Amino acid sequence: MSSTLIRQATCVLPDGIGTADVLVADDKIVRVDAPVGTRADHVVDARGLHLLPGVVDDQVHFREPGLEHKEDLHTGSLACAKGGVTTYLEMPNTQPATTSVEALHAKLALARSKSVVNYGFFVGATGDNLAELRKARRTPGIKIFIGSSTGDLLVDDQTALERIFAETRLPICAHCEDEATVRANRARLESQGPLVLADHSRIRDHEAARISTARALDLAERHDHRFHVLHVSTRQEVRMLSALRGRQRQRITAEACPHHLFFSVDDYERLGSRVQMNPSVKTARDVEALWEGLQEGALQVIATDHAPHTLQEKASPYPGSPSGVPAVENSLPLLLDQVNRGRCTLAQVVHWMCDAPARVWDIVGKGRIVEGWDADLVLVDLQKEATVLDDEQATKSRWSPWHGTTLRGWPVRTWVMGRTVFKDGVWNAGERGREVLFDHRLGGYWATRG
Ligand code: DOR
Repeated sequence: MSSTLIRQATCVLPDGIGTADVLVADDKIVRVDAPVGTRADHVVDARGLHLLPGVVDDQVHFREPGLEHKEDLHTGSLACAKGGVTTYLEMPNTQPATTSVEALHAKLALARSKSVVNYGFFVGATGDNLAELRKARRTPGIKIFIGSSTGDLLVDDQTALERIFAETRLPICAHCEDEATVRANRARLESQGPLVLADHSRIRDHEAARISTARALDLAERHDHRFHVLHVSTRQEVRMLSALRGRQRQRITAEACPHHLFFSVDDYERLGSRVQMNPSVKTARDVEALWEGLQEGALQVIATDHAPHTLQEKASPYPGSPSGVPAVENSLPLLLDQVNRGRCTLAQVVHWMCDAPARVWDIVGKGRIVEGWDADLVLVDLQKEATVLDDEQATKSRWSPWHGTTLRGWPVRTWVMGRTVFKDGVWNAGERGREVLFDHRLGGYWATRG
């Protein structure tokens, strides 16, 4: 047995923030207020630092199998360790796509041999794989691309969608952008001349997001199915989500991504395809509405939608440039910087990035610093300043849309199941995370204690 005593960190605990001595034994947190004189194999003097539960990022694309030139499960997980992300849930639009139990288990086996942090994988809906969706276990849930994005996963047909919501039991999440609206917008703009990058937000516009999210909420309501809206990008969607009541409120959650919280259409000129993603960036008013949605609880989660492409791919002229941005190593620093600027509190950040996603997906023993829970922890220095630089990114794609941005508040040490995976800029790349346990009897975010 190996033990670590983290001494005198300012700890973000479920019932408040305070200084404590946290004792870890093997892979568990065993004491949150260890008595003076407690002995351990390793003692970490954490005075002046903050101890948070490890971040749970419920939306990443790590590209393996099939697109390993962009990212793989090892490099993606190293980026996580650097960013204080101790658990990721990965999306099914790999090649081949994760649309069968066999493909799901193959990914889990790959991650077991390659991933430095903990992992789980969504199973993707195709419209004719109901039997697989019904059989799948060891997964947070089902991902539906109700609008198409990177890859060829798309379920747009109403009958197919009705059947998925009616005949499956796992929680569902979706990419919501209305395919018909996107196609019509694109055809209209193409008829007016060659497309330019800023057209991306005119093609994937507010209406596309609003129509598709409304459609998904209607499906979830009529079938009384648990549902999570991924990457909300518009004020109209925030309004819809904040109007949910009763049973529907109890079954539905939603999230925002850093790129939609920090960028808008005003950034195309400066950043080009570095801010091209799906759903597209919207206006400064939408950015404000997303922050308000988080503050008011209409949105519960912040996750990255980490979606790396190479800079060479991104350099293709629009619409040839692929959509997506990498972010797992910077999401927590971006939010800590906002804490320092007074936009939000540290407790809110821990809620949005650790506790809430763990509860949305029924993850056992993660997202909080609680005795008996997993020792997935991140020590952060709220005063540390560093500039995000392409060359220093751990993601295989080696760039960030935040290149050149100085942030205050960075992880300095990350533990996964009690083992140090990252410390002061150095990885223990030989460590391996574990498969996350999902207990869907927990009932999701609204059923679990707040
Ligand atoms: O911009 C995006 N890129 N949005 C998605 O939903 C998918 C992602 C990707 O996989 O590249």
